[in-house]
Amino acid sequence: MTASPTTPSTAESRKSLIKLDGVTKVYYTDELETHALAGIQLDILEGEYVAIAGPSGGGKTTLLSILGLLDSPTSGVYLLGGQPVESLSRSQRADVRNQRIGFIFQAFNLIGDLTVYENVELPLTYRGMPTDERRKRVNAALERVGMSHRTNHYPAQLSGGQQQRVAVARAVSGDPLILLADEPTGNLDSANGEAIMELLAELHGNGATICMVTHDPRFARHAERTVHLFDGRIVEEERGDRATTDQQELRESGFGIDR
Ligand SMILES: Nc1ncnc2c1ncn2[C@@H]1O[C@H](COP(=O)(O)OP(=O)(O)O)[C@@H](O)[C@H]1O
Ligand SMILES: [Mg+2]
Repeated sequence: MTASPTTPSTAESRKSLIKLDGVTKVYYTDELETHALAGIQLDILEGEYVAIAGPSGGGKTTLLSILGLLDSPTSGVYLLGGQPVESLSRSQRADVRNQRIGFIFQAFNLIGDLTVYENVELPLTYRGMPTDERRKRVNAALERVGMSHRTNHYPAQLSGGQQQRVAVARAVSGDPLILLADEPTGNLDSANGEAIMELLAELHGNGATICMVTHDPRFARHAERTVHLFDGRIVEEERGDRATTDQQELRESGFGIDR
């Protein structure tokens, strides 16, 4: 992967934040071996915004789980900020997750017994943040996603779109250095989807590195680069405005059938 001449000069001066070298992931179930990732080479720069596209079963969620230290590669090397992730202890991995990474999952993973406010507050509590600071951040995050009027509701009392907005608030309340989003707009109508995209763009503008799985070329366009995963391999990379040229192909690749 080389920087194209049209890449803004800032991109060239940015450092590598995430580097995968020959990363594979094999799932073993009964007598079946699934090669979810097969030799991934990926370099994500500090502050970069990368979209991951491709058909269902291509390995997108697996890749995101590995990037977020929720799962480990079967083989290959993952360097995070230049450090091999493999060398981190369990508790160091947990610290990196809590302090530096925000997740928006495909299934929202909101906790049913906690209110909207408490769900968004939880990762901040894990960090040991003082109550006042937590309150400020939770309220600001809920404001940003337009959910301030539902702080005391429980997830089951919300629509799918509202739950997703709360999940986004939870992911961004701690201003993560790295934001990993798996189909963050999958359950939203287009207006709500655009609102989430604006929110991600704002975080990106503030310096966050974003890696977003999406089937939708309209949303992939927000990213600086789109990586196409097929059968666990990166089959294509596109930069910037070129990310819109393969709309038909992307649509055929299974938009919307992944959940
Ligand atoms: N925990 C698991 N155990 C066994 N196979 C899995 C597991 N998670 C994913 N897979 C398989 O790995 C492949 C990639 O899955 P996934 O990363 O979820 O793809 P995507 O997110 O692109 O739809 C699929 O064939 C899937 O069935
Ligand atoms: Mg997936």
